[in-house]
Amino acid sequence: MELLDGKKTSQDIQSELKDLVSKRVAEGRKAPHLAAVLVGENGASLTYVNAKVKACERIGFTSTLVKLSESISEEKLLAEINNLNINNDVDGFIVQLPLPNHIDETKVTLAIDPEKDVDGFHPQNVGRMALGLPTFLPATPNGVIELLKRYDIKTEGKKCVVVGRSNIVGSPMSILMSRKGSPGNATVTLVHSRTKNMAEITKDADILIVALGVPEYITADMVKEGAVVIDVGIHRVEDASAKRGFRLKGDVNFKEVAPKCSFITPVPGGVGPMTIASLLMNTYQSVND
Ligand code: GUN
Repeated sequence: MELLDGKKTSQDIQSELKDLVSKRVAEGRKAPHLAAVLVGENGASLTYVNAKVKACERIGFTSTLVKLSESISEEKLLAEINNLNINNDVDGFIVQLPLPNHIDETKVTLAIDPEKDVDGFHPQNVGRMALGLPTFLPATPNGVIELLKRYDIKTEGKKCVVVGRSNIVGSPMSILMSRKGSPGNATVTLVHSRTKNMAEITKDADILIVALGVPEYITADMVKEGAVVIDVGIHRVEDASAKRGFRLKGDVNFKEVAPKCSFITPVPGGVGPMTIASLLMNTYQSVND
């Protein structure tokens, strides 16, 4: 079993981007500028957004964090988004999800200028992805693709099972794994909460990508010997003996499953850091000059 080290791979990508940015800046061109909008005080979202902003600073991007109150009206949030759309200094921006219940996420996503939508969530960009046209690919699925690429894991003709059908991970993941290209060209099955006999399907997977959102849902009996397992889940599970009062767990029971795998991502240090690397790659692409 070999670990797919997302932390190290993300650092490699960040140092490549850092070199590219310093070359740009030395030529008198602008550094890429990422803005992140955070609404409310959700602890996990705050951690993720801070990690994204810090990564920008580390590699020489400019970044802006727009922190807004939990009680902001939808109208005011849409006005903030419009400000970012028309601000020529901002190349790309994201609105961290989830949003409070009184705000319509679809409306917000639609308000983002597709050319600045470095999360790749706007329907125009989702459509372009589905058609195989150049676009911003969503950060988490593209981070998984990049990890497979950098570990030279062959996907062509392989049976890939994606667990979970969310708009931001499972569904785009299934599209990217099945589309023409490398990584890609896999035979993909997408399973979800209403799937019958899920274990029978997952057990057949050469590549198993799990984004269901249930801690340690995937157990050893659901995995084929020699499979490549990618765990997208990340959960804070209470643990009084841990320093911070919780431990991070994935959707896969790592202890049980890891010995059966050819490759597996750890949690933390697997897909999470790759999401950041992928967002930074998109932001680098978003600069227009
Ligand atoms: N919430 C969970 N993952 C993501 C992500 O990749 N982007 C945004 N904007 N919100 C998220």
